[in-house]
Amino acid sequence: MRTGFLIKLLLIGTLGTAMLVNGCRKDQFQTTPIELPIPVGFPQKTPIFENNPLTEEGFQLGRKLFYDGILSKDGNFPCASCHQQFAAFATFDHSLSHGFDNSFTARNAPGLFNLAWHQQFHWDGGITHLEVQPLAPLTAPNEMAEDLNNVLEKLRNHPQYPGMFERAFGSKDIDSKRMLQAITQFVGSMVSAEAKYDQVRKGNAQFTAAETRGYLIFNSQCASCHSEPLFTDLSYRNVGIPLNPFNKDFGRMTVTGNRQDSLKFKVPTLRNLSYTFPYGHDGRFISIDRVLDHYERGIQAGPTLDPSMRNGIELSPTQRADLKEFLKTLDDPAFLQNKRFGPPE
Ligand code: HEC
Ligand code: HEC
Repeated sequence: MRTGFLIKLLLIGTLGTAMLVNGCRKDQFQTTPIELPIPVGFPQKTPIFENNPLTEEGFQLGRKLFYDGILSKDGNFPCASCHQQFAAFATFDHSLSHGFDNSFTARNAPGLFNLAWHQQFHWDGGITHLEVQPLAPLTAPNEMAEDLNNVLEKLRNHPQYPGMFERAFGSKDIDSKRMLQAITQFVGSMVSAEAKYDQVRKGNAQFTAAETRGYLIFNSQCASCHSEPLFTDLSYRNVGIPLNPFNKDFGRMTVTGNRQDSLKFKVPTLRNLSYTFPYGHDGRFISIDRVLDHYERGIQAGPTLDPSMRNGIELSPTQRADLKEFLKTLDDPAFLQNKRFGPPE
């Protein structure tokens, strides 16, 4: 405890001096740096905080913004309206999410966690830095439907925000860069790595016999795409899901313009599946069984179909039951209850 505190003080001191040396600030400006530890077995993070040093003040500002309807046109659609903590920050029980003016999103809202290990975001990878991601929902007419300048004006006239920006960034100036950096500090800090699977990895728990059998099936049938420890290899694949006739969503091809990317979508993580239903890029599968039914007999052939999917994935009823037991070990209820990621008091 004490040593931690001393180290913190030292860090604050260093940061303050560096700022003075750089001549950035007239008076001493102090923040509390945060370390985002890398969970056991996880790879190195993407440098999302490289030019945005993670601090307690920035995190708390981002947290307030995430839960605040002020970011949306009519005040009703904060980030948290579609990204709910009890659903691992996906939209609970909705294939598509509600947005401004009774409209719906075109895709299923993914859970938000372990994003500090991703390089590209959204189902088609159309966003290449976490820091610019919030601009998409903020300005989308079917999501928050706001205008960036309008949001900034509202924040400047708010009783609390100017002070919070000052504590996080050293002055009361509120601009889009600072706002986006703060949101990134909050969203990028969400880490889910306390599932039973992680406990087993650390040697603190053991799989049951069924979970062990399920793990073997997972390794032979699923791990090539849903690879450990993120349970996604972050690639884009066509797993034979027929085109959605309503919105004609061709996935990755809409970003690259390359026909070889037609119907490819980002491999989603399998962590916290119990909370993030329904599944698939448009939420068409209401349960894990429906996803497995698809892999067994719903695959639609096509020029971009992943070669490993050509014959589908057939599992006996016992194999399916075991696999589902294993998948449950990826649920992390502590993440859902972590007050740090909940609404600010
Ligand atoms: C109206 C519902 C809605 C609102 C409000 C909303 N989102 Fe989302 N979010 C979505 C949907 C739907 C997607 C998937 C978009 C896609 O793939 O095209 C998404 C995707 C994301 C992703 C990418 C996750 C990944 O795995 O690639 C992040 C990060 C995110 N949202 C953060 C936010 C933040 C921060 C806010 C507030 C500034 C916000 N969202 C507001 C519905 C919403
Ligand atoms: C060839 C790569 C690949 C293989 C192999 C694969 N998946 Fe997937 N999986 C994907 C992709 C891509 C998606 C997203 C599909 C979409 O919505 O367009 C997906 C979606 C899912 C989803 C929905 C998750 C969500 O949050 O929406 C589940 C559950 C799932 N897969 C489980 C499995 C299981 C279990 C196996 C093994 C039996 C498996 N997958 C094998 C690539 C793969």
